[in-house]
Amino acid sequence: MPHFDLPPHFRFGVATSAFQIEGAWNEDGKSPSIWDTFGHTPGKVHEDIPGDVACDSYHRYPDDIALMRDMGVDSYRMSLSWSRILPDGTGRINQKGIDYYDRVIDGLLEAGIDPNITLYHWDLPQVLEDRGGWPNRDVAEWFAEYAAVSFNAFGDRVRRWATLNEPIALWIGYAAGWFAPGRQEPKAGRQAMHNAMLAHGRAVQEFRAAGSPGEIGIVLDIWKREPATPSAADLALAQAGEDDGFRFFLDALRGGGYGDRIRERLEADGTMPVILPGDQRLIEQPIDYLGLNVYSRVVVNSETNDPSKWAQSDPHPGGNFLDNGLEYYPRAVYEALDMVRDDYGWVGPVIITENGMNDGPSAAENPLDDVERIQYVEGFLEWIAAAIHEGHDVRGYYLWSLLDNFEWSAGFTAKYGLAALDPVTLDRVPKASASWYRDVIAAHRLTRSGHIRPQKSSGNTVTPSAQMGDHEITVAHQGYSPEGGKPLTWKCVSPMVENP
Ligand code: NOJ
Repeated sequence: MPHFDLPPHFRFGVATSAFQIEGAWNEDGKSPSIWDTFGHTPGKVHEDIPGDVACDSYHRYPDDIALMRDMGVDSYRMSLSWSRILPDGTGRINQKGIDYYDRVIDGLLEAGIDPNITLYHWDLPQVLEDRGGWPNRDVAEWFAEYAAVSFNAFGDRVRRWATLNEPIALWIGYAAGWFAPGRQEPKAGRQAMHNAMLAHGRAVQEFRAAGSPGEIGIVLDIWKREPATPSAADLALAQAGEDDGFRFFLDALRGGGYGDRIRERLEADGTMPVILPGDQRLIEQPIDYLGLNVYSRVVVNSETNDPSKWAQSDPHPGGNFLDNGLEYYPRAVYEALDMVRDDYGWVGPVIITENGMNDGPSAAENPLDDVERIQYVEGFLEWIAAAIHEGHDVRGYYLWSLLDNFEWSAGFTAKYGLAALDPVTLDRVPKASASWYRDVIAAHRLTRSGHIRPQKSSGNTVTPSAQMGDHEITVAHQGYSPEGGKPLTWKCVSPMVENP
């Protein structure tokens, strides 16, 4: 049985999001979200196939729950569709939407699985986009209302909440235009990012006001940048990448407001958002945990960097819009944990809310034989264990994703699932990784009940896993390569040998 040196209280989960799996885009009173509109606009998503059906989880959620029960997962990270619950964005509640999530939540609890709910995973109601969307400061109040409705409806059974998933996606949607709503307005993009922080703060206020038991946090994606050389140009590129990707949010959440470096750059390029007195206090109020999505790192090289080249060659990126040339770098999770502690003083609970990979080359031979995914997750779990032994308070891990699903602009081309979807019947078909994950969880359960004692950490050196040698794996192109279809070299650069 695969076994990792993780503490008994550590919990394993799987993750999805509403738009990526539910389908039923216009059923039972749901109004369109910006992703419905975007997907129905020619040229925006891969092969113009929108998420109308997706995995049909709106009807097949019992299959999803059965799959999770078979794997023995402790928790399911899912999101709510705002436009299913409040079709007008605010005001009128759609009882059928509430009923759907009641059924899912109750089904999960009956199966012994804790629901972990993210309020916003990128699918703003279109009616609110028509009122200006995220760049309109009113969004903070709209979101607060939606959050309060959700806490009121589900707070009696849901113990873990997140306000927003990866707010950087707002930049991609409002400034770069690759995601919904497809606007290319950099100033509006920055304002959207700031307003998202206000919305987060208002939702946390509503959570406290509702006296909801349990915990609330936010989910950020951390792709640390590594300068390819020590040159000033590479360092500046690395800093700008981190500032845009996650430091913008962490600076504000952890107090003090946006850092000088960010402010100077935004002032210089004319994208500084409007910030009113009191905003920072609203944003920085305490949260209960920090959710981190960690997939890899990005090595930046100012000599070869050409942002426009990637945008042109890959007009339909998936959620990990940075994963062209993705490197297998499991140490990324350890570095992310160090970064939030060392740079932001975060010593509270952390949950790894997403980690996973798009199918590798073996899936081209047999879609169910996803050996690279097993190896990938194994590496990350080992580095998480190492971080915990050094004092990080990591409470759990969610594998992205339960199912192959609608991968944003990349449509159904990027398959992140532990289970594949039969293209005709939409039946869920577990891949090899699903059995492997089930065994990991079962082995961990034994440690919890005291049958196996976790191995003691051997100081700062962690033994490399048998499979994690220094080697290269070639990953078949999945729609991300800037070269437009050549295989990518996926290099194992950080075997678990030295752990500084
Ligand atoms: C980030 C996003 O949260 C999720 O929606 C996406 O599918 C995965 N990572 C994979 O790209």
